[in-house]
Amino acid sequence: MMTKTSKGQTAPSTRPPGSAPAPGSSPGSNTASNTAVGVADGASAARKLTQQGHGAIIGLQWGDEGKGQIVDVLTENYDLVVRYNGGANAGHTVQIGDQKFALHLVPSGILNPKAVNVVANGVVVDPAAIRQEMTGLRERGVAVGANLKISDRAHVVLPYHKLQDKLMEKALGADRGGEQMIGTTGRGIGPCYADKAQRGTALRMGDLLTGEELHKKLGHIVSVKNVMLGALAQAVGEAFEPFDAAKLYAEFAEHGRTLREHICDTTELLHSAMEGGRRILFEGANACLLDVDHGTYPFVTSSNCSSLGIYAGAAMPGGKVGTIIGVVKVYTSRVGGGPMPTELKDDLGEQIRKTGNEYGTTTGRPRRCGWLDLLAVRYAAKISGITALACTGLSVLASLPKLKVCVGYRWQGQELKAFPADANVLAQVEPVYQEMEGFGGPVDQCRSQADLPAAARRYLKLIEEYTGVPVVIGCVGRRRDQILWR
Ligand code: IMP
Repeated sequence: MMTKTSKGQTAPSTRPPGSAPAPGSSPGSNTASNTAVGVADGASAARKLTQQGHGAIIGLQWGDEGKGQIVDVLTENYDLVVRYNGGANAGHTVQIGDQKFALHLVPSGILNPKAVNVVANGVVVDPAAIRQEMTGLRERGVAVGANLKISDRAHVVLPYHKLQDKLMEKALGADRGGEQMIGTTGRGIGPCYADKAQRGTALRMGDLLTGEELHKKLGHIVSVKNVMLGALAQAVGEAFEPFDAAKLYAEFAEHGRTLREHICDTTELLHSAMEGGRRILFEGANACLLDVDHGTYPFVTSSNCSSLGIYAGAAMPGGKVGTIIGVVKVYTSRVGGGPMPTELKDDLGEQIRKTGNEYGTTTGRPRRCGWLDLLAVRYAAKISGITALACTGLSVLASLPKLKVCVGYRWQGQELKAFPADANVLAQVEPVYQEMEGFGGPVDQCRSQADLPAAARRYLKLIEEYTGVPVVIGCVGRRRDQILWR
């Protein structure tokens, strides 16, 4: 379903058929005590939820919690949607009516014709990838023009970053039978952030517009990279063809010319927007447990994906973001390496993967699946300062007769009080489970939290009580009318 934008281009309607507010319904309170109150009027519930300052949406597990769906439904209440971390490793799927959009670098607000979308300084941008995404969106009738801004301070992912990513994984894989492999998405994310910290070997989006200056910088960087990568390739037994600085210059100067109208000082833009009373939504990519400082290090990505990344990644002073929504899938999934205490390596895990279609949006890899880990979610909610929870994936659990939720860890005979910093400890913990009744049948037709079977409401209540954060949204499917408010 497409509507005309102010620029005369077409874009998907933000209110597809079937999601019209039910007349006469009223919003429920956001307190932890009224789980049973249903709110069919999604628009007014969303308004109520987003009243407090600027907003943020953060995944509280290892990614793929369904953040795109929540961003999509809340963008109407904001003027700008901002990505502050990560790169093309992220994959946000947004479904509008029958249409599915898989977004990687472009903020999900692009599907809202009124929103300005900002790729802020904390993001690492692969210019070819963002251009491909922009073209794909335009081909489907989505307006992409002055509504997309890219920070001149954001760092650039180049082809040698992707090669470095692959070679480093191979080097780690050769060590201890692959145990140390991070299982990256191969998008060059880690090497690009490493260059950002290294400084002398980094390029920012603004550099793509500097002509001769870019030429000089690339000449220097490529000579360093060829030495390093040549040696690394040799060490892992891979053929290596040196990068050609002149070719890279031609390619990336062309990216600069094409993206010129989008590249700007987004710090200035965001601060002027705030001064003008405009409202901002920050869209977290990847997720809290993949945060480079606070996640399951070293099995993490290379940015601050928790809400803590907003401040440095979008030049946002503390205290400006009032509504921080944590998205929790009611079971757990993880792609790549690293500990996952509640992983189910049996048929049940396979059943959850199939029912939940748990295959990577970015790489298509099957995701590891398991029970909900509340200890990990509570930790993630705490470090991100979460003010409300959105629980997705309820329909995936609906056919299971019995459910388990992890409510503690035992390690070396003792109960751990906190989420461990050491990935080796996390790999050894024994989850303490609370058994829960199955929901007793499908839930995808429910249209309010009050419609949910009692067992499903008890499940949400457990999440709420354990984390101390109200569950304001429950999702029983990907469509907008399958978002249950209260
Ligand atoms: P990288 O970000 O490609 O370096 O990958 C580091 C780790 O984070 C790997 O285990 C990836 O599978 C994981 N990862 C990165 N981005 C996402 C995401 O958006 N969803 C799920 N896992 C992710």
